[in-house]
Amino acid sequence: MSFPTHRPRRLRRSEGLRSLVRETPLAASDFLYPMFVCPGKRMRKEVPSMPGIYQQSVDKFLEECREIEDLGIAGIILFGLPEKKDERGSEAWAKDAPVQRAVEAVKKAKLNLVVATDVCLCEYTSHGHCGVVKSGEVLNDPSLELLAQAAVSHARAGADVVAPSDMMDGRVGAIRGALDHAGFVDVAILAYSAKYCSAFYGPFRDAAQSAPQFGDRRSYQMDPANAREALREVALDIEEGADMVMVKPALPYLDVLHAVRGAVNIPVGAYNVSGEYAMVKAAARNGWLDERRTALEILTGIRRAGADFILTYHAKDAAKWLGE
Ligand code: PBG
Repeated sequence: MSFPTHRPRRLRRSEGLRSLVRETPLAASDFLYPMFVCPGKRMRKEVPSMPGIYQQSVDKFLEECREIEDLGIAGIILFGLPEKKDERGSEAWAKDAPVQRAVEAVKKAKLNLVVATDVCLCEYTSHGHCGVVKSGEVLNDPSLELLAQAAVSHARAGADVVAPSDMMDGRVGAIRGALDHAGFVDVAILAYSAKYCSAFYGPFRDAAQSAPQFGDRRSYQMDPANAREALREVALDIEEGADMVMVKPALPYLDVLHAVRGAVNIPVGAYNVSGEYAMVKAAARNGWLDERRTALEILTGIRRAGADFILTYHAKDAAKWLGE
């Protein structure tokens, strides 16, 4: 039996009915907000390609954290701009580097926020790659120890979650081992498991000053054409001890996100990356798209595809809109 017996529009007649049958909830508690911390005091500089997103010193960062807590956002993920870069990226595990100080500060303030840190070397190395470089090659195994050191230093500062984004093989296992060895058995790992080599990271690399100084990241980040391989990466990371996995970017990889959600029984996140954010912002500024409706539709779509939580630069705006 079909029309006229069946009329799907009956359930779309009022907001009451629509919200009663809505399949995918979206809430501020689904979001992690990415933030960039730099050295110094009273520094707050907007990233030109990411309106509303700032490179800021720890004092300013802490002010924004209070706002984020008030908005009901689940937490933050931190990226650092070091004072100086070197071949090995040694500021990545320095005790008094911006990320470590920021974690300490937000923990000391006892804010109700999940504090995650991005674990990678690209922001800290002079060559801008995510691992150790020798003769123009990014070496896998020698990078693991450095990444593990960075993760332990974040844990020591008080991070709840460490999130390796480097895409070296075996890094989740190396980090889990190092955390446990140092006594941080309760610090969780959010693995950037299916991280693609994407043009959508462009604005982020301005924000984090982490563009590779030669070549690209194709020898370690995934080929955008591959979906089955994502399931393999996810399975390996879970075997190595990942507590949560992530797909990144989000929009061009919703099929991957959906497949991962179906394949695993641990929480799955998606990273709505800088380029995805910049596109919405640019179009909205031109009057070409309604920012609020566009962003909420995107975030709902990412949740519907299978994300339990979303790392997004829209988090603050979306939380405000959802709360109205
Ligand atoms: C570090 C890292 C990157 C992003 C998150 N962690 C950049 C990259 O891999 O080049 C991108 C995030 C974004 O675009 O918002 N490896």
